[in-house]
Amino acid sequence: MHGLLLQRCIPPALSPFFNLNLSNNIAKKQYAALGSRLECCAHYVRSGGVLLDVGTDHAMLPISLVLSGKINRAVASDINGGPVAAAERNVSRNGLSDKITVIKTDGLTGLEKFEPTDIVIAGMGGEMIISILSSKAAEWSKREGIRFILQPMTRQSLLRRFLAEDGYLTEYNSLAEDTGGRIYEIIVCRFTGEPYTISETEAIGGSINRDSPDELFIKHLAGKIKQLRRQAEGILKSSDNEIRRTELSAIMYTVEGLEELKKLINAEKGKSNAELL
Ligand SMILES: C[S@@+](CC[C@H](N)C(=O)[O-])C[C@H]1O[C@@H](n2cnc3c(N)ncnc32)[C@H](O)[C@@H]1O
Repeated sequence: MHGLLLQRCIPPALSPFFNLNLSNNIAKKQYAALGSRLECCAHYVRSGGVLLDVGTDHAMLPISLVLSGKINRAVASDINGGPVAAAERNVSRNGLSDKITVIKTDGLTGLEKFEPTDIVIAGMGGEMIISILSSKAAEWSKREGIRFILQPMTRQSLLRRFLAEDGYLTEYNSLAEDTGGRIYEIIVCRFTGEPYTISETEAIGGSINRDSPDELFIKHLAGKIKQLRRQAEGILKSSDNEIRRTELSAIMYTVEGLEELKKLINAEKGKSNAELL
């Protein structure tokens, strides 16, 4: 069911975002455009949808999407007073107070009345995203039709395991690279209530329904392999007890899986290049 989707997805340039009217010059400079990470999240928000941006901070994403005309209505929520005040200021300065509602709340608490179609949770750790999705206050969001666009900064494989075990079907696994070469992972999914299992290779590699250019995916896999090899070296140095040995063989098994995946993508890339000649 979850084969590799070898299509290319590069988020379009969202030029209207340059019109953002933000609160001060520093913010203007920093936020003149969304940047590849949030642009990629924006790409997966469906046209005409109602966006809920959880942990919105300065409300960059909803403001940008409404200004671009892709959506007409959004809710920007955050747990902290500072971000909520900044979001309110930015929404008002852009003349969007009638289209974007700013709310102070924890995770998905009390947000069902806005009937969002697309929920973005970006820029947080994977464990925090899991805690938001698994909280009782999130029950209302377990509805088919709602698209989740998740962008974990850490513990991405843990989040993928949680999504599989809790019955969220991954529609796209995407990647975004910033100008400094850092790669961010974006997971687009919807709740079906049907749990499934994924391998450690799939959880770490994000290979199910992959939606990123081959070159970027290969770079991402190479980074993960390097990380795992470093972890394995650490284990080798620190101890040789049985538990450590089991951990080590599990890591090396995953490394092999990721290497296989890399080879497969390279081979398919070679094949399609040959077809072009
Ligand atoms: C690093 S910022 C990310 C901002 C923006 N989403 C992005 O991706 O650039 C994380 C934001 O999440 C908010 N946050 C953390 N935990 C939260 C929770 N449980 N519910 C809502 N917001 C939360 C923080 O206050 C902060 O503004």
